[in-house]
Amino acid sequence: MKQVKAIVRPEKLSDIRYALETVEGYGGITITEVMGQGIQKGIVRSWRGEKYEIDLIPKVSIELVVKDEILDQVTKIILEKAYTGEEGDGKIFISNVEDVIRIRTKESGEDALY
Ligand SMILES: Nc1ncnc2c1ncn2[C@@H]1O[C@H](COP(=O)(O)OP(=O)(O)OP(=O)(O)O)[C@@H](O)[C@H]1O
Ligand SMILES: [Mg+2]
Repeated sequence: MKQVKAIVRPEKLSDIRYALETVEGYGGITITEVMGQGIQKGIVRSWRGEKYEIDLIPKVSIELVVKDEILDQVTKIILEKAYTGEEGDGKIFISNVEDVIRIRTKESGEDALY
């Protein structure tokens, strides 16, 4: 099982969610509003001739734990739907998940995902 954590533009969230919900084996999602900074740091804006930098930009964090077989499908959807080609499109972090336990039924592993 893999955890897919994607930090994306907030305005891309609904397109990403609609597409993810069509994936067979989709088991749920956690969405968090976050503030972040990539390599280009913030955005420089001007106001009345003064330049100032907004160093943290609002983003949305999407987290899903999926079985390995659908990982490629999930990352492909996020890559397509989150893309604008401009700086700040975000990143996808993928990590291994040891185990999952559904508290209600005590099921564990992939059985607990779907
Ligand atoms: N290495 C990182 N660790 C944790 N969060 C990160 C990291 N890189 C990016 N993020 C998160 O992703 C958001 C979007 O990053 P962003 O797309 O600006 O990355 P980037 O590396 O600067 O790429 P780009 O050149 O396309 O802007 C950041 O606001 C931050 O929340
Ligand atoms: Mg950036």
